[in-house]
Amino acid sequence: MSSQTSARRAFDALITERGLAFGGDYNPEQWPREVWHEDVRLMREAGVNFVTVGVFSWATIEPREGAREWAWLDEILDLLHENGIAVDLAAPVASPPPWLGLQHPDVLPVDRDGVRLVAGSRNQFSPASSTYRAYAQAITRDLAERYAQHPAVRMWHVGNEYGQIDHGDEAAREFRFWLRRRHGDIETLNAAWNTAFWSQRYDSFDEILPPRRTPYLINPAQSLDFRRYSSDQLLACYAELRDAIRAAGAAQPITTNFMGFFAHADYHSWADQVDVISDDQYPDPADPQSASGIALVQDLMRSLGGGRSWMLMEQSISAVSWREHNLPKSPQRARRDSLQAVARGADAICYFQWRQARSGAERFHSAMLPHAGTDSDVFRGTCRQGADLKLLSAVAGARVPTDVAILFDWSSWWAGEEPARPTERLSTMQQLNRWYRSLWRRGIAADVVHPDAGLDAYRVILVPHAYILSPEAAASLAGAAAGGAQIVIGPFSGVADEHAAILQGRSPVLLRELIGASAEEWAGMRPGMLRLADGFGPAEPQSADVLAERLRTEGAEVLAAHSGGDLDGIPAITRNGGAWYLGAVVSDGALDAVISGALAAASVSGPIAGVDVLPEGLEAVRRGGVLFLLNHGESPAEVPVTAGLFDLLTGEKTADTVGIAPGEVRALSEALSERH
Ligand code: GLA
Repeated sequence: MSSQTSARRAFDALITERGLAFGGDYNPEQWPREVWHEDVRLMREAGVNFVTVGVFSWATIEPREGAREWAWLDEILDLLHENGIAVDLAAPVASPPPWLGLQHPDVLPVDRDGVRLVAGSRNQFSPASSTYRAYAQAITRDLAERYAQHPAVRMWHVGNEYGQIDHGDEAAREFRFWLRRRHGDIETLNAAWNTAFWSQRYDSFDEILPPRRTPYLINPAQSLDFRRYSSDQLLACYAELRDAIRAAGAAQPITTNFMGFFAHADYHSWADQVDVISDDQYPDPADPQSASGIALVQDLMRSLGGGRSWMLMEQSISAVSWREHNLPKSPQRARRDSLQAVARGADAICYFQWRQARSGAERFHSAMLPHAGTDSDVFRGTCRQGADLKLLSAVAGARVPTDVAILFDWSSWWAGEEPARPTERLSTMQQLNRWYRSLWRRGIAADVVHPDAGLDAYRVILVPHAYILSPEAAASLAGAAAGGAQIVIGPFSGVADEHAAILQGRSPVLLRELIGASAEEWAGMRPGMLRLADGFGPAEPQSADVLAERLRTEGAEVLAAHSGGDLDGIPAITRNGGAWYLGAVVSDGALDAVISGALAAASVSGPIAGVDVLPEGLEAVRRGGVLFLLNHGESPAEVPVTAGLFDLLTGEKTADTVGIAPGEVRALSEALSERH
C-alpha cells in the first residue's frame, strides 16, 4: 500500500473513531499557560475533538537561529491528548521569524515593482529562496522527528494557505529552470511565446525575467507560464516538507489548506499531493448568493479528492476582520454554513480560530470562544454545533454522487483573463457561478473537473468558459456527446492553445463540428435583446450582453437570435443534438432554459421527486442515505418527501411534506427511517 493510501486510511480511521472532526486553529503560544487548562475544558464542553496547533509558532520554537523551544509544545500536546482532542500539527513555515529575514535578506519576497517585503506581518518568504527552504526543512524535520510518534498527533498541516509570489532574482533563476524543463530549448520557447511580436526574442534562457513592471502589456504567454511556474514552485515547497515529515517516520495524513478557486495555485496539480483535501472558506454574509457560491467551492473540493470526503479547515464563526465592512454571521447562519459543508462531503468542520486573539492584527476576527467568553451567543452556537455534528456521524465518509460535470481549468482562467482581450467584463468566475446556480436551484451537485479529465461518467457536461481547450479535451467532449451526454458550451471557449496562442480558423475551431456552428470573431457588445425560438425559454424578455460572437449555423438549430442593432438575426444560442452552444453572454432566464433543457434531455433531476426548481433559497443535497435541506432564504420552504424519514438533527419523523424554517436545516435519513 502506498504511504498516501495508508495515510488516507488513517484519516478515515480517525473519523470513524471520533465522529466528524470539529474544532479549529488553536494558538496556545499566544496565551499564558493558565488559559490552556480553561481552553481544553471548554473544548470538551463544546464537543471539540480536533485542533490545528502551531501554524504561526516558528518564532516561538526558534526564537534565535538554531534554538528549539519544545517544552511548551510537549506540554500542550500532552494536555490535549489527555483530554481526547486530536491534533493536526503544523510545520510552522508560513511566517518565518524576523531574524531570518534580517540575517538572510534573500529569503524575503520581491514584488513586481522590485520592492522587497519585510517582517512585521506574516508570509514574508520567497518560495524560490533556497535559504528559506533550508531553514523551513530544518525546523520541519526536527518537529516531525520529535512528534511523529506522539499519540495526540493525528495529522500534519504544512504551512498555511500557500500563495506567495516572488519576482526577485532567485525567482528569476528558478523560473528559467522551469521554462527550460517545459520548453526544452530557447527556440521552442520563442515559438511558443511568439516573441517575434514586439521584438521580444530571447537568445538564451538567461535573458528571461519574471513579469516585473514593464512600460506596457506583458507577453500573455510569459505571464501564463509564470503563473504556472509560481503554482509549481509553491507546490514544491509543500512537497519537500511533506517528504521531510514522512522521512521522519510520521504515518499520519499530511495536508495543507487550500482556498477554493484561489488565483495563485492550480489545485488540480496539487490535489494528489495531499492525503486529504482541506479548504478554507469565508463566504461573505453580505452576499445574497454566497450559499450557491460556496456550494460550488465545496463541489470543487470533493472533486479534487476524487469524490472522497474533505475537510473544512477554516471558516469564521461570526465576522471576519479583513473585509472593508464585516457583517457578522448569526449562530444560526454559522451552523447552517457548517452543515452545508457536511452535506457536500466534508468530514471535518473547523474554524479560524478557537479563542479570539486579544491583540494583534486579527483582534476583531471572530472565534469559537469570543472576547466576551462563554456567556455569549457565539460560544453557545459553538456548543450547539458540536452537538449537531455528533448526530450526523452516520454520513462520515459517504459520497455525494452526481451525473453532472462542470469544467474548470486554472490555466484557462489565467489566460482568459489576461488584459487586452475583447472585453474585460467577461469573468470566468462570474460565469461559472451563474451556470452553477442553475444546478444549485435544482438540488443538483456537480463534479468540478479539468477538461482533460475523463468525462465518460457524466450525462451532462457544462463548459461555461474554457478559453484554453486541448485537442484531447475537445475529442473527449465529442466522445461524450456521441455516447449520449448533453454538452453545454459557453462563449469565448476553445479560443486558444496551451500557450495561449489563438487557434486559427472559424471558432470554436476544435468544437465546430460538435456544435454545428461557427463564428468569425469575438467582440464586446452593447446590451441587446434576444428573439427566442418558439417553445424555448421563459415568457419574460431575454437579453444578451458583454460578449457576442458572429455565429453562423452549420447544421445546428437556432434557439435564440440577437434582435435589433448590428447583431440582428445572428444566432446567439444553438443546439446540435446533444451539443448546446451560447455565442453570447445571455441573461439568467435564457441561460437557465439552456441548462434545464440539457438536464431534461439527459433525464437528470434533483433529489426531490416532482420538484424541478426548489423554493427560493432552499438547498437540497443527498449525501449517503441522508437528504439535507438547508433554507438559506428568508421565507419558510416546504417540499414533498417520503413519509417516515428520520431527521438526524431533531429526532422527528417526517410526514409526506417537510417544512424548513428560514435559516434551518433538516438532515433526513432514509437508512435510519427503517430502524427507528
Ligand atoms: C486565513 C488564515 C488564517 C486567518 C484567517 C482569517 O484563512 O489561514 O490564519 O488569517 O484567514 O480569516
